[in-house]
Amino acid sequence: MEPYRIKVVEPIPITTRDYRERRYAEAGYNQFNLTAEDVTIDLLSDSGTGALSAEQQAAGMRGDETYAGARSWFRFREVAEELTGYEHIFPVHQGRAAERILFGALLKPGQLSVGNTHFDTTRANVELAGGVVRDLPCAAAADLDSDADFKGDIDLVALEAVLDGPEDVGLVLMTITNNGGGGQPVSMANLEAVKKLCRKRGVPFFLDAARFAENAWLVTQREEKYRGHSPREVAKLAFGMADGCVVSLKKDGIVHIGGMLALRDTELAKRCELLLIATEGFRTYGGLSGRDLDMCAQGLIEVTDPLYLRERAESTAYLAECARQAGVDSVRPAGVHAVYLNAGRLLPHIPSSRFTGHALASELYLAGGIRCAELGSLYLGEIDESGELLTPAPFELVRLAIPRRVYTRSHLEYVAETLAGIAKNPERVPGYRLTEAPAMLRPFRCRLEQVQP
Ligand code: F0G
Repeated sequence: MEPYRIKVVEPIPITTRDYRERRYAEAGYNQFNLTAEDVTIDLLSDSGTGALSAEQQAAGMRGDETYAGARSWFRFREVAEELTGYEHIFPVHQGRAAERILFGALLKPGQLSVGNTHFDTTRANVELAGGVVRDLPCAAAADLDSDADFKGDIDLVALEAVLDGPEDVGLVLMTITNNGGGGQPVSMANLEAVKKLCRKRGVPFFLDAARFAENAWLVTQREEKYRGHSPREVAKLAFGMADGCVVSLKKDGIVHIGGMLALRDTELAKRCELLLIATEGFRTYGGLSGRDLDMCAQGLIEVTDPLYLRERAESTAYLAECARQAGVDSVRPAGVHAVYLNAGRLLPHIPSSRFTGHALASELYLAGGIRCAELGSLYLGEIDESGELLTPAPFELVRLAIPRRVYTRSHLEYVAETLAGIAKNPERVPGYRLTEAPAMLRPFRCRLEQVQP
């Protein structure tokens, strides 16, 4: 059960199918155009959507809004240093700011950033800095149904080949857990091997540690060597292997806004500090208020609580299992922050060109007021200006991201029941056609209409 009780509540909108059909049509069948009033259960993102604890609220009240050298900064730095072991800690307003600063200071034009799977803002920031992204997910990641423990790992043979090849590698970036790759964890053995390969060649090795605690939890459950370890011990060992990290604290910091860049190298830190002051804020607040820094510090302490992590992991696995029993498969094994539904398998009558993943996400909204994100051809496929699909995505997935400490198991059961209802008559679900298909940031800006596939 949840190892906490509810102290403050917020009503959620309970709407009718008629209402949702009207609102979704007005929204151009794009869930990003819906408003909070339209959504009953919001599984669009686990980022910045968590519930604060009483201790975080209290920490917020102690926030010190001094411009430079605030007490909040020293409290934040102490916790971040203790957790990561890095000497140079820079607060930023969210993860992508840390990415922009790191790549801006580190990458030379044409250099590679090699990783297990870069998140989309991370990829964009590498490219904006003039770099080139190379994703090398391990082979097991391609099999959605395999129960391999660490499908978030990088392919070490491919990594070694790139590092020994003619290309100029600027850095290696391991994303823990691997959000772009089904929320799958990365093993400590894989991180250790990456560290060795990088050390030998003098290539800097960084973590994108947005979900570092959830990765650490899965390591304690799945990797023999770490069974007796606490998640915090594992997290510290993981940070210890890398040269630094970029972190969106909106995930495992359990705050509504916040991020961090942390580094060992003093020369690199000097270059980053310059970019930080120019674009985010002075080095002791970096775009955050004192209140935010104090709440981040407290969140970074709470997030490695094994009772909290166990319940979160188990409730995500429970949702995946309820869905499976109702006939809806998802990427196996279940991760922690999200369930990635296999829409392609559930809706074989809808071809990728009619956006299978979007069709399932849409039906979840129309049937139950549940909002979630498509991770299929609408998002990852190649599409021309008229909206026709040229190259489909490898899989048609739908991500149900679970906000931290927000929904109870009974909410998740409601999601599973809604899925079960859809799975009874999947052939009734319509496909979609793009009516507006902007070339850039398409999922956030496009409009669609329903079509019979
Ligand atoms: N890295 C990973 C692995 C992420 O999942 C995200 C954000 C970021 C970096 C960027 O952090 O949003 O604080 O700037 N992921 C959110 C999501 C948006 O819904 O998965 P940010």
